[in-house]
Amino acid sequence: MSTLESPVRNIVTVFGTRPEAIKLFPLVHTLEADERFDSRVLVTGQHRGMLDQVLEIAGVTPHHDLDVMQPNQSLDALTARLLTGIGSVLDTEQPDWVVVQGDTATAMCGALAAYYRKIPVCHVEAGLRSGDIYHPWPEEVNRKVIGSFAALHAAPTDTSAAALHRENVDPAIVHVTGNTVIDALHWITAKVEAEPSLAWDLADVEERFAGKRIIGVTSHRRENFGDGMRNIAGAIKRLAAREDVALIFPVHLNPNVRAIMNAELEGLDNVALLEPLDYPHFARLLDICTLMLTDSGGVQEEAPALGKPVLVMRETTERPEGVEAGTAKLVGTDEDTIVREVERLLDDESAYLAMAKAHNPFGDGKSAARIADLLAR
Ligand code: UD1
Ligand code: UDP
Repeated sequence: MSTLESPVRNIVTVFGTRPEAIKLFPLVHTLEADERFDSRVLVTGQHRGMLDQVLEIAGVTPHHDLDVMQPNQSLDALTARLLTGIGSVLDTEQPDWVVVQGDTATAMCGALAAYYRKIPVCHVEAGLRSGDIYHPWPEEVNRKVIGSFAALHAAPTDTSAAALHRENVDPAIVHVTGNTVIDALHWITAKVEAEPSLAWDLADVEERFAGKRIIGVTSHRRENFGDGMRNIAGAIKRLAAREDVALIFPVHLNPNVRAIMNAELEGLDNVALLEPLDYPHFARLLDICTLMLTDSGGVQEEAPALGKPVLVMRETTERPEGVEAGTAKLVGTDEDTIVREVERLLDDESAYLAMAKAHNPFGDGKSAARIADLLAR
């Protein structure tokens, strides 16, 4: 705990999945370089391989690693492990602030463990709301729980700040900071420019698909397991029948995703099913693709920033900024709708150009510095 003699703020930043790691490494870099802070990193290991990929490229060495991941983990068992594990680290560290990001089980449990100890919580990427507690599930409720008691809400946009105001959060503790994903994207782009070999491992697949238009695909949402995933696979299969396109799909490590995608799509001529890409290679995929087809949250922010149309395989989105600007479109998980919307972009140049405009409502790459200043106040 800091004292009057020692105004240094002790911060514990908690994360455990790939997207949290990507969106928090810029803040960890900033806190580590700033003498106003003693920065500690607690990773839960909710994701193991996909988290470690980010830690390695970002050069982040955690002070604590709970290593909680179990194969095909259930939400309740995961939540129990996270809550008790994070709680005992907070008892040791006794920080001035706990920082969490987004809406994962790790973020919700990190915030709750802090609240149980009356430690103030800074919520990064606060105020995203779809208005539907089952889309995305369970993320909408996770972020509402955090939002109900966070002491500092770092909202990425005016829209997310307004959502918090509507929930009667004190405006004095809501700040529009931009989304740290743009900081991360700038950082990785500069790193790959300085060291191009970091993104060379896609060369084989790029050569295999030379002359074709590339569709980048990601999919992992729990609410899409089963029929939703089967529809997505069916749409990919139909699109892959076209000779002028190829689909590059780094498949999430969740066994519920892999079982369906491998069974339905393995061996198709115009489909490359890959292991999850590290961030430099995923940035390369964003760069070479004609469009992205995804149910991811983060990709909805990155693709528009790079001028790539993004078709969102969800019923709702908590990121309406891209849709309003015309760079993102909701297509749900109906097979015919997905195929029709992709083909419209492939075959109608004016429809494509209307979506393919660089649009960046999510930040200017300086979000981490703004959040650090708020934590220092
Ligand atoms: C989690 C988050 C979701 C986020 C997503 C990002 C929750 C409830 N869900 O979903 O909000 O959008 O991460 O990707 O917090 N696995 C591995 N290795 C890994 C990662 C996952 O093997 O590196 C497998 C394991 O079998 C694990 C399973 O995937 O049990 C599910 O992981 P989990 O974090 O529970 O759910 P996600 O669907 O990844
Ligand atoms: N990403 C990555 N490799 C991949 C797929 C995604 O590095 O193979 C990155 C992507 O750039 C984005 C983040 O992972 O920053 C999104 O993670 P995910 O889709 O798993 O979670 P969500 O954003 O939906 O919570």
